[in-house]
Amino acid sequence: METEILSIAADEQPESVRQKLSHAGDIIKNGGLVAFPTETVYGLGGDALNPESARKIYAAKGRPSDNPLIVHIADMEALDAIAKRIPEKARQLARAFWPGPLTMIMEKTGLVPAQTTGGLDTVAVRMPGHPAALALIRAAGGYVAAPSANLSGKPSPTTAKYVIQDMAGRIELILDADGAELGLESTIVDLTGEVPVILRPGYITQEMIARTVGETEMDITLLDGDSTQAPKAPGMKYRHYAPKGELALVEGSPEAVVQYINEQARRHRGDNKKTGVIGTAERIADYCADSVKNAGSRRDPLAAARQLYTFLREFDDEEVAYIYSEAFEGAGIGQALMNRLLKAAGHKVIQV
Ligand code: TXA
Ligand code: MG
Repeated sequence: METEILSIAADEQPESVRQKLSHAGDIIKNGGLVAFPTETVYGLGGDALNPESARKIYAAKGRPSDNPLIVHIADMEALDAIAKRIPEKARQLARAFWPGPLTMIMEKTGLVPAQTTGGLDTVAVRMPGHPAALALIRAAGGYVAAPSANLSGKPSPTTAKYVIQDMAGRIELILDADGAELGLESTIVDLTGEVPVILRPGYITQEMIARTVGETEMDITLLDGDSTQAPKAPGMKYRHYAPKGELALVEGSPEAVVQYINEQARRHRGDNKKTGVIGTAERIADYCADSVKNAGSRRDPLAAARQLYTFLREFDDEEVAYIYSEAFEGAGIGQALMNRLLKAAGHKVIQV
């Protein structure tokens, strides 16, 4: 398949943007697939109400079809059409955080085909905050199923370059526009029980949710790498975000971390293997390795979150064989960052 690539410039005329999004919307309405930016990561969009579109999404990603998709909407009427017995807490969270990087799990109505939800009787819903994403959803008929636009097992793409790398030849259209400024996927919260449960941490933190709707739990399978309990978000069970190189987190005093990583880099160089490092600005000058990525200040985990997936992709491009990352504070967005890092590392943490 020939993949069309359409760029939308930041200062493009509204009429030209409208035409491009209307073209993209038509492709989705006709059962085709369009990759587009959201404020979190790029999504791979298809008609959420068309079972054939869901099948195509799984095929394009090489993703198991029991892994349900998030349905993206652009207004509250759409929520009432696809979810039933919508809890008051969901409405409160929607008022507080939509449009934005929050996905909510609710009971689904018959409008949503089983193919979209991987056979579950619940549906994940998100109203994204990116203006072009919202306009595309409207142009596509109001319901866009969109997983992250990466091949299964690769980090979610935060630039069109990596969408093209993964999806060229597999889908009808790629929209190349500004976006993905948050860099990590949305927070997922399950509202099917009495107490909301966070299944995937993100920019909207447990604290922010609890402040809006009271007691909120964190799925224990997220916190404990060795947990034998099945994760509630089926996608969390698959190996994700993994770079080709072997990634480990290194925890300890600043001096010990730098010393350990530099020793490993020297050792790997002796074996003719490249070493990559993800370090914070405060220590970055002390690292001596083949590829050193500056994740920004320790006091600003948001900067690290924004760049993490790009770093992992760049290490692949650079054929780095071993990657060491500093660990980050586990609160707020730092918790989401650590969750993705730990998953990418297969929970390998070295204490020094
Ligand atoms: O930020 C995001 O959420 C991005 C952008 C494109 O919106 N999308 C995204 O989709 O990250 P995806 O498919 O890569 O991740 C969706 C996650 C998966 O782990 C999936 O198992 C879970 O959501 N999920 C979807 N529907 C679910 C449901 N009904 N119950 C539990 N988990 C669900
Ligand atoms: Mg994904």
